[in-house]
Amino acid sequence: MPKQLSESVADVVARLDHEDLGPESSATDQTTQQPPEISEHDVEAIDTAFKSWMARVPSKYSDASMRKDLSISWGAPWYLLGPVGSGKTFAAWGLYMYHLEQTRKRNMALGRLHFYPGMLIANVATMMGDFRFLPIDDKRERLSALCGVKRLVLDDIGCEYSTDFSEDIIFQILDDRYIRERYTAFTSNIDIKNLPYDDRIISRIMGFVSNNRTQLGGRDRRIPAAKDGK
Ligand SMILES: Nc1ncnc2c1ncn2[C@@H]1O[C@H](COP(=O)(O)OP(=O)(O)OP(=O)(O)O)[C@@H](O)[C@H]1O
Ligand SMILES: [Mg+2]
Repeated sequence: MPKQLSESVADVVARLDHEDLGPESSATDQTTQQPPEISEHDVEAIDTAFKSWMARVPSKYSDASMRKDLSISWGAPWYLLGPVGSGKTFAAWGLYMYHLEQTRKRNMALGRLHFYPGMLIANVATMMGDFRFLPIDDKRERLSALCGVKRLVLDDIGCEYSTDFSEDIIFQILDDRYIRERYTAFTSNIDIKNLPYDDRIISRIMGFVSNNRTQLGGRDRRIPAAKDGK
């Protein structure tokens, strides 16, 4: 059985992040409190930075939007479970783009030119593939980026080829982020309690997301829906 952690990181992070991702958050509020004093040149610079971050969204997910219909709070660490092709990664990129848009509005409102969305979506299998072949210094740098980013979404956790090495990387990331109370969210085809990890990892994932989990259902959206009668 996973060890029960005394404190819910979900609650702490939810409070800290509510301003950024919570439903009430709005750069409009800030606009009314603090009228923008930025030049056309600054507006252009913010827009250019926004576009370059948007260009990182894979084209398959470029029309995603934040799924407000799901019964989870995006402002706190979450766990999105669902079968293949049900839209988990799509939902994660939808959140990413919403977050970018919020950052753009906030920067416009406050005249902030430094545009850093502070959210990373990492597919765990791809991440592990990269780790295996990176030189040691690059490994350290990658690990520190994954530990340090303000919000991290680990996509498809539990579906990677699992080895002691991959478990160790996942443990290091989760442990570091857990003790620093950094927003960490997950998508998976596997329920938390069935993830192929030892209790120390399962415990931390549960500690992050608490009850902020939901399950997607429905068909595999990659496969075109069958026509009536076929
Ligand atoms: N809400 C949606 N509206 C429109 N298209 C969607 C939606 N959700 C997913 N899709 C499309 O369905 C396909 C599969 O979605 P996605 O990659 O998010 O599935 P997944 O659950 O992450 O699958 P896997 O478990 O294989 O990683 C994608 O091409 C995506 O663009
Ligand atoms: Mg996916």
